[in-house]
Amino acid sequence: MVKAVTKAVFPVAGLGTRFLPATKVLPKEMLPVVDKPLIQYAVEEALDAGINEMIMITSLNQSSGKNLIESHFQTAEELEATLLQRGKTAELNFLRDDFPNPQKISFTHQDEPLGLGHAVWCAKDLVGDEPFAVLLPDDLMQAKPGCLKQMMDVYNNTGGNIVAIEEVAEELTGRYGILDVDEDDGRLARARGLVEKPAAGEAPSRLAIIGRYILQPEVFHHLDKKMTGAGGEIQLTDALAAMLGGIPFHGLRIDGRRFDCGSKRGFVEANSAFAAERSDL
Ligand code: UTP
Repeated sequence: MVKAVTKAVFPVAGLGTRFLPATKVLPKEMLPVVDKPLIQYAVEEALDAGINEMIMITSLNQSSGKNLIESHFQTAEELEATLLQRGKTAELNFLRDDFPNPQKISFTHQDEPLGLGHAVWCAKDLVGDEPFAVLLPDDLMQAKPGCLKQMMDVYNNTGGNIVAIEEVAEELTGRYGILDVDEDDGRLARARGLVEKPAAGEAPSRLAIIGRYILQPEVFHHLDKKMTGAGGEIQLTDALAAMLGGIPFHGLRIDGRRFDCGSKRGFVEANSAFAAERSDL
């Protein structure tokens, strides 16, 4: 029996240097695509996949503006009262629909941006001994059903660790964790190895991990060691590689589009793609 996934971790403590000066004060995850911040798309995707407990890993540095994420998910009582008074019900619904119960969101801090693996490790106590999802909000997914829902449907059969994957150009392998696969049916690939940011020409495949994961709690045993990897950061991929052989590890190609909103180009493309599917625009 596969154990159900009920918690999702959102690492939002990165520096967002590629988006300066916009991210000087504003956390990258609060950048809006059309009219909604990236973090809210990710939370909606998790809700859509049946997750009901959200764990955000924010930066400790308050001057970085990371507390804006916390504010975004709190009820805005004064604003809601004003909208109600003015009869602006449509606008009021924007503040209420698709928001999780604020009591179901917990926040914990990453003292220093030591890498994605370290950010996920910071959720250890809140996650406990259960499988959990990780969503990187700057990878924005346009998919129906949602990306995490697609993964969850597969996870219910395979169990183990599952990551979302995408085929990338050879010259881009150095930006991603790359799978070494031993079985691949064109949608689901079983991994026997994993390499973080291999140089072009040295990658075992072009199947890159994108920002969605379903992970077993054993990953925390490996992250506990705080080993640094590529770029001197504590890499999540290295911990996942250490788990290979023990439990199943699959990569799933998602039916949909991914936008790398951590890059300016991806962010601009996402805005036009999401605007294009809106009837009011
Ligand atoms: P990125 O690799 O995009 O790094 O992080 P970044 O610092 O946010 O952005 P750039 O490269 O400087 O522009 C991927 C995800 O992991 C989180 C980020 O917030 C983002 O959601 N992250 C990264 C952390 O939470 N902590 C870290 O130490 C590193």
